[in-house]
Amino acid sequence: MKKRKTHGNARSIPELIVHKRSGGALSKEEIAGLIEGFTHGDVADYQMSALLMATFFQGMTPEETTALTLAMRDSGTVVDLSKVPGIKVDKHSTGGVGDKVSLCLAPLVAACGVPIPMVSGRGLGHTGGTLDKLEAIPGFNVSMPVAQFVKQVRDVGCALIGQTADIAPADKRIYALRDVTGTVESIPLITASILSKKLAEGIDALVLDVKVGRGAFMKTIEDARALARSIVRVGTLAKKRVTAILTSMEAPLGFAVGNALETAEAIEVLLGRGPDDLVECTLVLGAEMLRLGGVAKSESAARKMLSEAIRSRKGARVFENIIRAQKGDPRVVAEPDRLPRAPRVVGVKSTRSGFVTGIDALEIGLSAVAMGAGRTRADQAVDPAVGIMLHKKLGDKIAKGEVLAEVHVRDKAAADRVCDRIRDAYEVSPRAKKILPLVLDTIRK
Ligand code: URA
Repeated sequence: MKKRKTHGNARSIPELIVHKRSGGALSKEEIAGLIEGFTHGDVADYQMSALLMATFFQGMTPEETTALTLAMRDSGTVVDLSKVPGIKVDKHSTGGVGDKVSLCLAPLVAACGVPIPMVSGRGLGHTGGTLDKLEAIPGFNVSMPVAQFVKQVRDVGCALIGQTADIAPADKRIYALRDVTGTVESIPLITASILSKKLAEGIDALVLDVKVGRGAFMKTIEDARALARSIVRVGTLAKKRVTAILTSMEAPLGFAVGNALETAEAIEVLLGRGPDDLVECTLVLGAEMLRLGGVAKSESAARKMLSEAIRSRKGARVFENIIRAQKGDPRVVAEPDRLPRAPRVVGVKSTRSGFVTGIDALEIGLSAVAMGAGRTRADQAVDPAVGIMLHKKLGDKIAKGEVLAEVHVRDKAAADRVCDRIRDAYEVSPRAKKILPLVLDTIRK
């Protein structure tokens, strides 16, 4: 196995590893052969792991990263959306705390005439996942055959599903190796992982929300910019229109953290009552999707269209249609009380007076996981009802004894486990601090 030559390549697998380890670039054919060999069991896990480590240290050129992305995309099914009229656009977030944007964004953008084939993930670690939030809706089904996915995008304007076994299967196996070999934090590997899955959906354009800060995967603006530039460049080389928008994830987005609570808050956005930061994030990403989707010429025209889809409730109607098509209960849009609810709500009170100058998104996310709203292993179930409702946001004035946040829990013991942690996640200072803008940068071709 070790010495096997792949598909007519001049170099064997060990030679390719040594070449990459020494800083050399692999050809398109070599990368395609490697991924094909790995998919079919001809390249061993230990060889792929060595190559991942060599890549981690030596990096890849944009051409190599593009070849890796396309080879990983082609390791499974590439959805054919050519029968759906229009420019198909998706959005991907690198993950944050309270990030329920996809739930309100997708129906709003679809309501403005851009078809959205959205394949999302589940929460892992401190970040939540769109699928878990959708599954808080009674009956909502996140899996369907590809033909039905295509039909729903055409008929309803949007389908919201999970990754199927045949979408970029090489990514799934490579990601599992990266996870246990210390090779996750590599810009070319992250780029290929994210883009291979998105390109397999059959999209024409992508808006990437790169979250930056304590609660995000990318902790610094420099790292976030490097990832954003890489994805925009490789997406462009793969002939797709890609924009990356860097948004702050120092503090949670919106007030709600936890699945049903977040779904209810996303519905509030569709009904014109969403929190300012969440609405702004939705409008910024949505405006770019409408521009890339060719239905708006400028950002201001796009924002007007999205605001009108909120005012007229057109976005809310599209969300109801999506829920109905995916076997969920569409009445949750008008009656959010139909979403699961935790039996106990306990207030977390401030021990100080002052201004909220920080809310550690990572600590809030980890508290939600500890309550059962998230998972620490991919095979764990989540409790849709539990979570945290922030009452105070950055810049708010707070008096000693006032409620900072509420925890929605099954029992008192669960509240006791997290209340101090949530209180400690709040920074309360005598003087207010300048709040950083939500949008930190936009990177286009
Ligand atoms: N998300 C992905 O899908 N892949 C990565 O490598 C990192 C984040």
